[in-house]
Amino acid sequence: MQLKHFLQFSDFNRDEYEYLFERTRWIKQAFKNYRQYWPLTDRTLAMIFDKNSTRTRLSFEAGMHQLGGSAIYLSTRDTQLGRGEPVEDAARVISRMVDMVMIRTYQHEVVVRFAKNSRVPVINGLTDEYHPCQILSDIFTYIEFRGSIDGKVIAWIGDANNMCNTWLQAAEIFNFKVHVSTPAGYNINSDRIGLEDKSHYEIFADPHKAVTGVDLVTTDVWTSMGFEAETEQRKKDFADFCVDAEMMALAKSDALFMHCLPVHRGEEVSAEVIDGPQSVVWDEAENRLHTQKALMEYLLLGKVDVNK
Ligand code: CP
Ligand code: NVA
Repeated sequence: MQLKHFLQFSDFNRDEYEYLFERTRWIKQAFKNYRQYWPLTDRTLAMIFDKNSTRTRLSFEAGMHQLGGSAIYLSTRDTQLGRGEPVEDAARVISRMVDMVMIRTYQHEVVVRFAKNSRVPVINGLTDEYHPCQILSDIFTYIEFRGSIDGKVIAWIGDANNMCNTWLQAAEIFNFKVHVSTPAGYNINSDRIGLEDKSHYEIFADPHKAVTGVDLVTTDVWTSMGFEAETEQRKKDFADFCVDAEMMALAKSDALFMHCLPVHRGEEVSAEVIDGPQSVVWDEAENRLHTQKALMEYLLLGKVDVNK
């Protein structure tokens, strides 16, 4: 089987995503019915964390266990990676001992270098640039609630961060549009994230205009991991970019609200919105588990017979 990695959203095509969503539905149903499904017996996932995590660690670790395999947590704080062992050497060694690797780190270039030297599939569990596993779950969640995302419009309010970049890559693949509204000085860099088709996004200086009439409103923390030194400045710069009830009311009446979590209530979103009826953040979080199980199955076994 050809070695495949999942480093950024543009690594897979639409057919592959449709397949993954079909498998996710099947795998989720089996899980809900307590039906044992162990296609990855004796397989091991190494999870390398350079940043904190609740959802990503838990969903990969529980997911691997539920598929019959096991997962090993490695922190750069207590491995030789934290003491300067070259990422290429670590990749050569780790990928001789396990069947798949997930990495959460700072520069995206690190996961690319790891993957180049790996004998096994590598999954990006978040870098400064991308968070593809989260968008996999978010799009699956949108489809669960509202059907096809094709032709829909979503509003991204706030920082042009890893989540925003990944939504923009996804828009080209799933044919939806993103209204992006960031404070001045925090704009997207479309060349850096390899966007080919500029018709899939539109920039709005005013977040209220960006959310008007959209199908989905989404945001994220003002200060991502690794940017903590900028926190106080960002609180000032992002002050007008809180998704509150007044802003949410400008979207379609059946618009959904999403946030990858963890959230800072009262900063990027009001408690009323994230805890309100349009918010699907808990399903979004749960679906990390189911979508990533489908992803791991695909990376290790390829396409399996969906009727078995
Ligand atoms: N959304 C997300 O990736 O959460 P964690 O940082 O808890 O993994
Ligand atoms: N943009 C956030 C996402 C956390 C899951 C960060 O990178 O910290």
